[in-house]
Amino acid sequence: MQREPIPLADPGAQMRLCEESMRSAFDRVLTSGRYILGDEVQAFEREWAAYLRAPYCIGVGNGTDALALALLAVGVKAGEEVITVSHTAVATVAAIGQIGAIPVFADIDSRSRCMDPTHLPGLISKNTRAIVPVHMYGQPAPMGQIMAVAREHGLKVVEDCAQAHGATLGGQAVGTFGDAAAFSFYPTKNLGALGDAGAVVTNDPTLADSVRMLREYGWRERYVSRMVGRNSRLDELQAAILREKLPFLDRNNTRRRLIAAAYTQALRTTTLVAPAQIEGTEHAMHLYVLECTDRPAFERFLNGAGITTGRHYPFAVHQQPAYAGRIRGSRALPITDALYRHLVTLPCFPELRDEDIAYISETLLQWGSQNRAKQGHAISPTAERVIR
Ligand SMILES: Cc1ncc(COP(=O)(O)O)c(C=O)c1O
Repeated sequence: MQREPIPLADPGAQMRLCEESMRSAFDRVLTSGRYILGDEVQAFEREWAAYLRAPYCIGVGNGTDALALALLAVGVKAGEEVITVSHTAVATVAAIGQIGAIPVFADIDSRSRCMDPTHLPGLISKNTRAIVPVHMYGQPAPMGQIMAVAREHGLKVVEDCAQAHGATLGGQAVGTFGDAAAFSFYPTKNLGALGDAGAVVTNDPTLADSVRMLREYGWRERYVSRMVGRNSRLDELQAAILREKLPFLDRNNTRRRLIAAAYTQALRTTTLVAPAQIEGTEHAMHLYVLECTDRPAFERFLNGAGITTGRHYPFAVHQQPAYAGRIRGSRALPITDALYRHLVTLPCFPELRDEDIAYISETLLQWGSQNRAKQGHAISPTAERVIR
């Protein structure tokens, strides 16, 4: 019997599981008569800040706006440089461009797949104003080293936490290390809304005040624009839904890690490279991304077995048509350039059934046994390309 393909993500499954509480959130908002920036938004801001142990949270329209508004609030001006990574969702770089700033790319570390802080000093110019590390796939970036470089050079740090809700570094939640942090609650994220939603988190009351004004025309009081702001408001329905789902975030992250552990165990007998386990960090496992030397054949094998796979991302940002050749100040990015060609994402979401996890693990083992003879080495494809 033909089995239904196992999807890469299934945000509908989570909504169906908590349909009752979703409906109660919907009813609450419907009858409240207030649909944007009301009590639900305020409550969610308090609850998300409390979860992270951060003093301030400001709900905004989406994760890209959260980054752009945080960058504006920390003082980045048009024409100034912001160092980030090219191995990220294009949104990180789009946000920098949105405020007229210039992205500069640091290479990544091949194990963490996050910003390699040793490259930062060589990229800093008199025009550099901020650093945006991305906690890629849910893996915390090395914030201690990044903050040390930033402080030494008087730079601001805005963490891109769009893929890392609940990830920790030394027991501390990501999003609480930098001057500010940006979260996305896009429906497939570890904490996902029913549409677009985002938030800025910060320890700094002045910065929080600026973001609050920037998200709504520069208003502190209605109709008085104290700064040139925008419209990036969080709506009540998204906030109410996020409030219903937040109590399940830790449990869902634990389930994601369990799925990841099953895949990693299966990969041990293959030459496929699992995400590294980095000491002192707790991965949010937003995406389970492995490395494979023979990607097209591996994808065909899995897809043929009814397992959907993904590529996050098909290109690094500096190779995207809109950005190619237009990134000023970047040096060579050998790890970034090598990595994206080998990445394959496997289904990893909390509602994935036990039998699907077992089936995917079994299929990985099968790939391993069929290819062991052909691939007599176990070096990371990334390392291999860079060494050559
Ligand atoms: C790393 C990263 N940064 C930023 C964003 C932007 O979030 P949003 O889609 O909510 O604008 C995303 C979401 O896709 C992301 O994955």
